[in-house]
Parts: sequence; C-alpha cells; structure tokens
Amino acid sequence: MTESAGWLGRARRQIQKNRYSKNPLLKGSTLLIRSPWYVWQFLTDGFYRTTILNRLRNPKSLHLTCNYTKMDRYPEIFSLVRAHFEELGKVESPDLKILSFGCSTGEEAFSLRRYFPHAEIVGVDISEWNLKQARKKNNDDRIRFLFSDDNTLEENGPFDAIFCMAVLLRIAHRMEPAPSSADEYPIDKFIEQITELDGHLNEQGALIVYHTNYHLRDTPLYERYRALTFDFTEKDLIPKYDTNNRLMPDSDTQERVFVKERNAS
Ligand SMILES: C[S@@+](CC[C@H](N)C(=O)[O-])C[C@H]1O[C@@H](n2cnc3c(N)ncnc32)[C@H](O)[C@@H]1O
Repeated sequence: MTESAGWLGRARRQIQKNRYSKNPLLKGSTLLIRSPWYVWQFLTDGFYRTTILNRLRNPKSLHLTCNYTKMDRYPEIFSLVRAHFEELGKVESPDLKILSFGCSTGEEAFSLRRYFPHAEIVGVDISEWNLKQARKKNNDDRIRFLFSDDNTLEENGPFDAIFCMAVLLRIAHRMEPAPSSADEYPIDKFIEQITELDGHLNEQGALIVYHTNYHLRDTPLYERYRALTFDFTEKDLIPKYDTNNRLMPDSDTQERVFVKERNAS
C-alpha cells in the first residue's frame, strides 16, 4: 500500500468512527464534511434514496440499510436446510413455503430456487427500489417479491422456512464497533423482529438467523428451538452484543439454522 493510500485509509476510518461518536461536535462536523457526498448519493443512487425515505417513514422497522447480496451467498446454510426438509420428506413438495426476509434485489430467492425446485418462495424487503430490481429479473411465477410490513407476513404465511440473513444488524464488521449497541441497534429491536418472524413459522420449520448483532440463544425464543449442528467453514465477522447491549469479545458461533420444536404457549 502507498503512503497516501495508508493516510487516506486512516482518515476514512476516522471519519467512519466519528459518525458514531457521542461527542456532538465531532459527530456534527463529520456529518457536515460528508454532506456533499450524501446529497450526491441521494440524487444518483436509487437504493440510497429509498433508504433515506424509509428512515423517515419507517424508522422503527428499518434494520440494515445496505443491500449487498449475491447468488448462492450461503451454500452451506442452504444445503443444511435442504437436508432438514429431505429428512422430513418435504423437499420436493410444492406446498413448501419459504420466506426470504430482507431479500434485497432477489438473489437470495433465486438461489433458494436451486435448492428447493418446487417451493413457493416469497421475498420481502423494505426498499421499493430493491423490490423493483428483483421483480425485473424474475420470470418464475412461484417467486414473489413484496413490500415488508406487518400485513404481508400475515397474509402470505405461515412459512416452513424463514431466511433472515444479513438483515438484523446495524453495526457491521467494516466499522469500528461501538462498545454499546444501545443507541444504534438495541437488543429489544432484534427480539421484537425475531418474535414477529417466529409467529409466522410452522412447527418443525427452519429459522435461519445469520450475520446479526445478536445471538438467537440470547432471546426468549431459544428454548423452543433446536440448533442444527454443522461445521461451517465461513466465519461470522459481524460484531456481537450481549443482552445488556455490550460488545462481546469474538463470539462467532456455529448456530445459524434453528428448527422450531413448538409454538409459543
Ligand atoms: C444486506 S441485505 C441482505 C440480502 C440477503 N438477505 C443476503 O443475505 O444476501 C439487507 C436487506 O435488508 C433490508 N431490510 C432492512 N430492514 C428491513 C425490514 N424491516 N424488512 C425487510 N427488509 C429489511 C434492506 O433493505 C436490505 O435490502
């Protein structure tokens, strides 16, 4: 790396860090420095624009605001879930119903089709721009892309599998993780969302929770679920916080796919 790249990199990281500073002067001046960039992005980037508008319209329901995704992003997870439904004798069933929660531009749903050739697949996202891209690419009449709100899950569920990956977080590994998540993304928000998803999942269904700021085992749901054991090769780099919103030391876990043993009583 050249000296200027090193200098630039350090400056960029410092600016990134200052955005989450508790010092209002530091935070305010950083926002001011970045404001021309924000305006430019708002004018030229459709996803960014819908994200900002969503932040204003749905501040409570918005989770991660980045829409990175790609085809077959999680082959080990997809295969493990497929094996679970093979064991249940349901993998070829046209009645199998799968939800991709936070589907972004659709690649997760299209990848799932390769593992579940006959399933009905619903992708939901909070960004209309993402949904528009997903719909443009879709030529499968058993895959639908819908706006994510309280009614959508109620009207289209219950599901046999809910994939919730790279959605329930705000503090990514690219950032300097704050010692507490209380301001940016408190655990209550995670629990609230995961509880809602649980309410739309069938018994013996699979809940896939990965790349999040919290562990499922730190929620009240966990006692009704069984984690499927598997030796995943990919390491989860997302910073993890505990039940008091405190940053935990490296706490990667192999628990990513959970089978629902029973409904809430
Ligand atoms: C990084 S993408 C994840 C895409 C895909 N699940 C994957 O892992 O490749 C995160 C997505 O979550 C969406 N999102 C954020 N809050 C949401 C919510 N409340 N309901 C549905 N989607 C949401 C964002 O719009 C974004 O498209």
